Amino acid sequence: MALDFTDKEIYQRDFDPRAYLDTYYAADVGSFVTDEYLPFILKNLFGTFASGAIRGDTLIDIGSGPSIYQFLSACEYFREIIATDYTDRNLQELEKWLKKEPGAFDWSSAVKFVCELEGDREKWTEKEEKVRRTVTRLLKCDVTKSNPLEPLTLPQADCLLTFLCLDAACKDHEAFCCALRNITSLLKPGGYLVMGGVLGSSMYMVGQYPFFSLDLEKEFLERAVCDAGYVVERLEVQPRTDLTSMFLSDYKASFFLLLRKQMDMK
Ligand SMILES: C[S@@+](CC[C@H](N)C(=O)[O-])C[C@H]1O[C@@H](n2cnc3c(N)ncnc32)[C@H](O)[C@@H]1O
Repeated sequence: MALDFTDKEIYQRDFDPRAYLDTYYAADVGSFVTDEYLPFILKNLFGTFASGAIRGDTLIDIGSGPSIYQFLSACEYFREIIATDYTDRNLQELEKWLKKEPGAFDWSSAVKFVCELEGDREKWTEKEEKVRRTVTRLLKCDVTKSNPLEPLTLPQADCLLTFLCLDAACKDHEAFCCALRNITSLLKPGGYLVMGGVLGSSMYMVGQYPFFSLDLEKEFLERAVCDAGYVVERLEVQPRTDLTSMFLSDYKASFFLLLRKQMDMK
């Protein structure tokens, strides 16, 4: 039987950031580490930013959750990164890592992986400090609102990131397209949206709770981003080959999209 949509209030109540991190991102054993989602996204982020063509003042990450992997390459090319999420506990977990508080999640394995791509694995502590310096703000966000950062109104950003968020926050294709338009309003004309996530997923587990995931297909994504005013600069899909943790999340492939907002879009 299909899982009911997981409303944002349920995220606020039941989404346990630590259980999420331990299940999906723990070094060597996390399911996104062993099934290759994380290395796939990190390699694509490295390839995207290393060219130096995508850089600027402000980058906003939409639906950061308690994660920092998405900042590891981008932090070298933006003056300021703003992390956002719907739940207070996710923002607190992020803050714990940024402030090096006791019990913060250990991201060092992912950080070393990116430093190795950049040519010097030994620089991982400097990279962590760079992320800590660059992520300057943690903000509440709701992608279902026409201004997702309400009540704040920020200047449009040079770049947006969003990973594994819209499929969690949207109950159907129409809601997905609407949320995409909402976040697009935060981006400058000509700016870049870097989006990644999974295809063919109906749910994912966090602790004892199943969370709804909108089943995305490549063709739908391509249509949706064009309708929202983007030009697709790159689309990579990696089919899932390791099916051992299908009980945690039933996705079939990972995707990475680099999009440019058309100049004539407001
Ligand atoms: C699967 S997690 C992804 C977290 C992180 N981006 C990552 O890649 O690990 C989904 C995230 O979407 C957030 N979320 C759910 N509904 C939302 C909404 N309406 N607006 C913004 N974020 C939302 C959740 O709080 C959660 O952090």
